[in-house]
Amino acid sequence: MASRRPSALDGPMTGVGSRRASELSSRRPSIDPSKLVPMDKFSVSSIPEPPPSFSSSPPVHSHYKTYSFVPPVAMTLLVHDFNVVFVGAGNIMFGSDEGPWNHSFRFEHKLGPRLKVVALIDPAVDRATAVLAKKCETFVRSAYENTRVFRTLDDFVKNLSKKDTPRAFVIGSPPMYRGTTQPGRDIELQILKHFPGIALFVEKPVATGPSNEIEEGFKVAKTINDNATICSVGYMLRYLKAVQMMKQIIDENNLTVMTTIARYACAYEAIAKPDWWNKSKSAGPIIEQGTHFCDLSRYFGGEVDISTVVAHSLEWDENAGHLSKLNVDETAIPPEDRIPRVTSATWKYESGAVGNFIHVVALQGHDYSCELEVYADGYQLKLVNPYVQPVLYVRKPGNDHEEVHKFPDDDPFFSEISVWIDNIEDIEEDPDTAQILCSYEDACRSYQLTWAIREASERSRDEHRKAKKATTPTA
Ligand SMILES: NC(=O)c1ccc[n+]([C@@H]2O[C@H](COP(=O)([O-])OP(=O)(O)OC[C@H]3O[C@@H](n4cnc5c(N)ncnc54)[C@H](O)[C@@H]3O)[C@@H](O)[C@H]2O)c1
Repeated sequence: MASRRPSALDGPMTGVGSRRASELSSRRPSIDPSKLVPMDKFSVSSIPEPPPSFSSSPPVHSHYKTYSFVPPVAMTLLVHDFNVVFVGAGNIMFGSDEGPWNHSFRFEHKLGPRLKVVALIDPAVDRATAVLAKKCETFVRSAYENTRVFRTLDDFVKNLSKKDTPRAFVIGSPPMYRGTTQPGRDIELQILKHFPGIALFVEKPVATGPSNEIEEGFKVAKTINDNATICSVGYMLRYLKAVQMMKQIIDENNLTVMTTIARYACAYEAIAKPDWWNKSKSAGPIIEQGTHFCDLSRYFGGEVDISTVVAHSLEWDENAGHLSKLNVDETAIPPEDRIPRVTSATWKYESGAVGNFIHVVALQGHDYSCELEVYADGYQLKLVNPYVQPVLYVRKPGNDHEEVHKFPDDDPFFSEISVWIDNIEDIEEDPDTAQILCSYEDACRSYQLTWAIREASERSRDEHRKAKKATTPTA
């Protein structure tokens, strides 16, 4: 993890009765929101013309903003190629209609013609070949024209040439194939065995295996730390300017977070991946999707006392759980693997604060409805719509008025990639802008919280069923 900003907690506590700042939450690094540069502002007048293959780019649409290519600042400072290996040729790497994610697009903007994707590892060779062919038809051809496709990491290692030696790996394969110490599901350890200390970017969640494997994730985290690997995990919402402004308000006012209240209501009609609806494949909506808000809650509330997590769910087979616009055939999924429609959880943070999270599978259409509120004495920080158009409402002491802050040109996917690459290249003109905000170990803790919520909700579901059965009169 990158060096952190000093906080009020770095000094000793001053006297009995003095205010205690938020515990671990405000110890974590943060970034001055005004210093998170949107990717279309990455221009300086003295930058040389990019080579023809990277010029005259068409505008590219993202939910966060419409961009056209401008060479990055880094290009003026460093001229050598940046060799990277992508693991996974799916939506997170190359985009889809489902959302604004598309790592390759952010890499192209960050690195310009320096980007060289030396290998794309994916057992679905046809899919990998097809996405590369599409890239090669565009202005970013030079990043992909020599990319080689491999089914496995071992195949890549066996065929490695010196000029293709990577500087970094981006891991966007399904989480069921990673985050453990078991053969075939230990890509992080395999990469570090062949390339000790190489930089890793890993998508969330860190894994989706059974909960008894969580400890293996922490072993992976230890190996990553022991190797002094620059590692970032894709909890991109931490990089939102709005989130960093919330962090700044907490730090500057030396606040103690009292509670976090998070609501994540997805638009289920737009989720057409059968695996997402099957707990045995994706581990369920809290672990796969709600994880972003569980992670954000921890980012503000600090460490969770896992033993305190309690939860309830509305299940698919309860009357109120009926959904009329499902775009998958749920009858093809075994009943015990079908997902809950609502999961509501509360817990205690180690600081004493209370966390509250609800995940809802009820909305139709396309856009999600997500909000996170953070309360401290006299303060309410309310983050609304972070996926589509983030707005932050701030209520402060001395006034009932809510300040409204809008962040129209923010792209957290770009910021997380940009910060990670700056760390790899050791570009740290301003330490405030180069903080990796989620380490692998931190991500393991978010994963642990999501499993605790799922298990607590299943326990209370079973108790409820049992109690209902006991009170139902037999015919
Ligand atoms: N941060 C975000 O907002 C965000 C958004 C989308 C996806 N994701 C995450 O990214 C990851 C991938 O999701 P996706 O939507 O791209 O999935 P996807 O199904 O679209 O693509 C996954 C790809 O990985 C390939 N693959 C399977 N096994 C592999 C292996 N062992 N090694 C390498 N590749 C393998 C598949 O063939 C497929 O091409 C998931 O963890 C998901 O949660 C994060």
